[in-house]
Amino acid sequence: MKLMVICIVVYLSLCVGLLPQCTTGSPTSGIKPFPKECIFVSDTFIDCRHRDLRTIPSGFPETVETLLLSYNSIHVITNESFHGLVNLVTLELHHNSISKLRSDFFEDQTKLQYLSLSHNQIGDKLPDDAFKHLRALEVLDLSYMNHGFTVLPLALQELIHLRSLNVSSNRLQSASFTPGVAFPALLELRLGKNQIESLQNEDFEALLNCNLDFLDLTENQISAIDSGVFHPIASIAELDFSKGLHPAAIPSLAEALTDYQVNALYLREIGLEIWNSNNFKNLRNSSLEKLDISFNNITTLDSGFSGLSKISSLIIQSSHVAHISNTAFSGLQLVVTLDLSGNDIATITDGMFSSLSNTRLKTLYLDSNKIKRIDASGGFSGLSNLHYLKISKNKIEQNFIGDEFKDLDSLEVLDMGVNRNISLSPDAFRLLKNLQTLYLNLANLKNITVVPSPFDKLSSLTKLDLSNNNMAALHKDTLSNLSYLETVYLQHNNLYNMWNETVYVPFLKYLRRLKHLNLCFNGFQNIPNDSLSSLHELETLLLCHNKISQLQDGVLDGLPLTTLDLGYNEINLINQTLIEPLQGSLQILAVSGNPFSCGCNLQWFRNWLDVTKVHVNDSSHMKCASPPEMRGKLVMDFHPERLNCDHLLPFYIWIIIGVGSGMVFVIVGLSVKFRFHINYCWNLVNARRRKYQRIKGEDRPFLYDAFVSFSNKDEDWVKNELVQNLEGEYGFRLCIHDRDFILGRKILDSIVEAVDSSRFTLCIMSTNYLDSHWCKMEREFAMANLIDRDVLIIIALGEIPEKKITKYYKLHRLMMKRTYLAWPDEPGVRRNDFWVKLRTVLREPELRVNNNVSI
Ligand SMILES: *[C@@H]1O[C@H](CO)[C@@H](O)[C@H](O)[C@H]1NC(C)=O
Ligand SMILES: *[C@@H]1O[C@H](CO)[C@@H](O)[C@H](O)[C@H]1NC(C)=O
Ligand SMILES: *[C@@H]1O[C@H](CO)[C@@H](O)[C@H](O)[C@H]1NC(C)=O
Ligand SMILES: *[C@@H]1O[C@H](CO)[C@@H](O)[C@H](O)[C@H]1NC(C)=O
Ligand SMILES: *[C@@H]1O[C@H](CO)[C@@H](O)[C@H](O)[C@H]1NC(C)=O
Ligand SMILES: *[C@@H]1O[C@H](CO)[C@@H](O)[C@H](O)[C@H]1NC(C)=O
Ligand SMILES: *[C@@H]1O[C@H](CO)[C@@H](O)[C@H](O)[C@H]1NC(C)=O
Ligand SMILES: *[C@@H]1O[C@H](CO)[C@@H](O)[C@H](O)[C@H]1NC(C)=O
Repeated sequence: MKLMVICIVVYLSLCVGLLPQCTTGSPTSGIKPFPKECIFVSDTFIDCRHRDLRTIPSGFPETVETLLLSYNSIHVITNESFHGLVNLVTLELHHNSISKLRSDFFEDQTKLQYLSLSHNQIGDKLPDDAFKHLRALEVLDLSYMNHGFTVLPLALQELIHLRSLNVSSNRLQSASFTPGVAFPALLELRLGKNQIESLQNEDFEALLNCNLDFLDLTENQISAIDSGVFHPIASIAELDFSKGLHPAAIPSLAEALTDYQVNALYLREIGLEIWNSNNFKNLRNSSLEKLDISFNNITTLDSGFSGLSKISSLIIQSSHVAHISNTAFSGLQLVVTLDLSGNDIATITDGMFSSLSNTRLKTLYLDSNKIKRIDASGGFSGLSNLHYLKISKNKIEQNFIGDEFKDLDSLEVLDMGVNRNISLSPDAFRLLKNLQTLYLNLANLKNITVVPSPFDKLSSLTKLDLSNNNMAALHKDTLSNLSYLETVYLQHNNLYNMWNETVYVPFLKYLRRLKHLNLCFNGFQNIPNDSLSSLHELETLLLCHNKISQLQDGVLDGLPLTTLDLGYNEINLINQTLIEPLQGSLQILAVSGNPFSCGCNLQWFRNWLDVTKVHVNDSSHMKCASPPEMRGKLVMDFHPERLNCDHLLPFYIWIIIGVGSGMVFVIVGLSVKFRFHINYCWNLVNARRRKYQRIKGEDRPFLYDAFVSFSNKDEDWVKNELVQNLEGEYGFRLCIHDRDFILGRKILDSIVEAVDSSRFTLCIMSTNYLDSHWCKMEREFAMANLIDRDVLIIIALGEIPEKKITKYYKLHRLMMKRTYLAWPDEPGVRRNDFWVKLRTVLREPELRVNNNVSI
């Protein structure tokens, strides 16, 4: 007891002693605890954004390379904040309230490449040497300073590796860099959202030897541009003046850009109202390739683009352009892309694009205008190189006869979707020999039943969109000639009566190369047996949102489908016969939104869902509709094995059968092993029955004096001694089984009868007898039957080991209770006595055998 108390005391004191070390100890002592405010993404990347921090936490590991501290309320940086963080490459501090920077704050950041300080309050107070240690800095963001810079800070002069500088959204009055500053590596300069009103010759002097690529001057109020201002940055490729230039300054801009390599010029939303190519005449020798004058208010295009002859991409979106004269695009010899989307063009008149005839124009966007009509005498004439024409989202209301597309021999893509009322005459597309893609979706197309089909001439067509047209009928040959068609969209029509119970119009029959077919939202109830069978290359079949309740066996056989959408129909079951033929190719299956019948018929499908590699879409909308108890439940929550669908015995029955047969096996085994015990029991029962029968007819005379029960091994003794000394002259009659039993009767019956018809039973007890099962049976039988009748005489023949006797409980009891006759070992007087005694007993049953020889 005392020892235990001591132990506990020692243990507790050890624990208390260790405790402080456990809680404060870190694997490597010496490192400050890591700031728990932040997310330790890795030991090189720490994310402290949006943590409402007021100061910069301490304890960053020296290994950190990227440290994000943006979107906090940090006011103050000190010379301790980043002390020791020598590996820092990226530091984000934007969206804070920092107002002060000093050079010693960044003393250790000689590897820093990216620094973002936008949305802080650093203004003209920035010391001239603030960045002097950041010798590796490549990207610096100083935009959106509250009360920001009015002049470009002198501190920038140290940053000779700077590639990108953003000083947008400050209060800069000019783009002038302080003389002496040089940025040999600068590629991108953003000066947008400032108050710059003029660009002066010396402004970019500091950038003399750099290869500036992109200059952002958006959202300024530039109205004066000195002609030499771009001289130091002659390499400039993109120049963005969107919302930043007074239209009156365009001529001086053009002059300033003369002979320089500007590729792209953005003049979006500058309030330009009149397009006058003369304003650009000084650009004649420039290499300008892209001009974007979108979001202006240019109602009329008529003066051409002379001077901009190298332009390949002209973008005039949403600029209220309504009138386009036949000289509108003159001078654009190299134009490839013309974007006039979102304007107010109402009619494509004959010759409208004649100023572009024989140019390389490939792509023409006219979508989202107000076009009602395309002149039937050839609205696009001359555009013989046009590949792509987009006239969708207009108000076209027209019956196309074909001449509208005159000269569009090269056209590959025609988008006429989303228009008001398009109808097609048989010749509508007769000139578009190279058309590959045709969009006619949501165009209020009527039934296309004209013969010959308007699509007949489109023998190169690979993609056709006829969706959203409320068409109720197609002629069976409407699509017949489109032997290269790979994709056809027919969703959102009313084609159900093409394939109803009585009518089958084989409108897809000849589309042998079809890969993608969308027939969703058509009201189909029926998918006829043959309707898809010729589509040997079909990969995507979308049949969603119809009224299909059953797909006939074989309807999808042989189709190399990878995607099958049967969602939102009236299908109760998915049959093995439907899916199994698709197993090799199918990757995506959608069947949600159907009223599944969650019974045994769905068993195969439900089990398949568990094992398949096919992606089954949207299984959260795959619900049972019946039986009533399953209604609304997910198919995935349906477990057919609980229904005993194969009429197999339930599992527990199998267990019972298993255990049962095991038991039978054991019983048979035991019976073989203990066959004599069983036999004995049986005999016992029989014998008892007979005994009672016999008792009824009591006084029958005995046939034998004694029945002799013995082991066959003692046969010699029985024949030579017992028979000799009792039968014959002595007059006793013995029943000895191999002599007196009647052949052919059952042994048991013979024994029972022998015992019954004998006055005594003589049991020749020996080791042989005890070893013999046969004898044992006789013996036990006799004992059971006769034990109470004093008719059993035991003759002990030779020495019998006691342990053999004790095995037989009854016999033991008997031999303990009764006396018995022992056969003397040596011949002589004692054997004579033995016979006399035995004869006396047999003759006078009442006389008790009395011999005290014990075994
Ligand atoms: C930070 O500056 C203070 C004086 O302003 C100086 O005492 C201290 O040693 C500096 N700490 C570091 C790490 O340079
Ligand atoms: C354009 O370049 C040619 C020579 O290539 C030159 O003769 C002509 O004067 C230049 N035009 C302008 C406006 O600079
Ligand atoms: C565009 O210009 C027309 C006159 O050309 C004028 O009536 C209209 O208000 C202008 N629209 C805008 C948005 O400036
Ligand atoms: C569609 O155009 C046809 C003529 O092409 C015309 O008869 C019909 O009324 C128009 N329908 C609508 C709804 O505009
Ligand atoms: C289109 O076809 C359907 C059935 O063939 C017919 O009922 C309907 O009147 C037709 N509509 C037009 C506009 O021709
Ligand atoms: C099948 O469609 C035809 C028109 O194509 C229609 O006349 C017929 O009534 C439809 N049959 C059924 C059973 O809907
Ligand atoms: C459908 O076609 C298959 C063979 O392509 C055939 O075995 C089956 O009987 C057909 N069923 C009907 C209803 O025509
Ligand atoms: C599934 O197969 C059974 C017979 O095999 C058929 O009666 C049943 O109509 C089929 N169901 C569907 C949806 O194809």
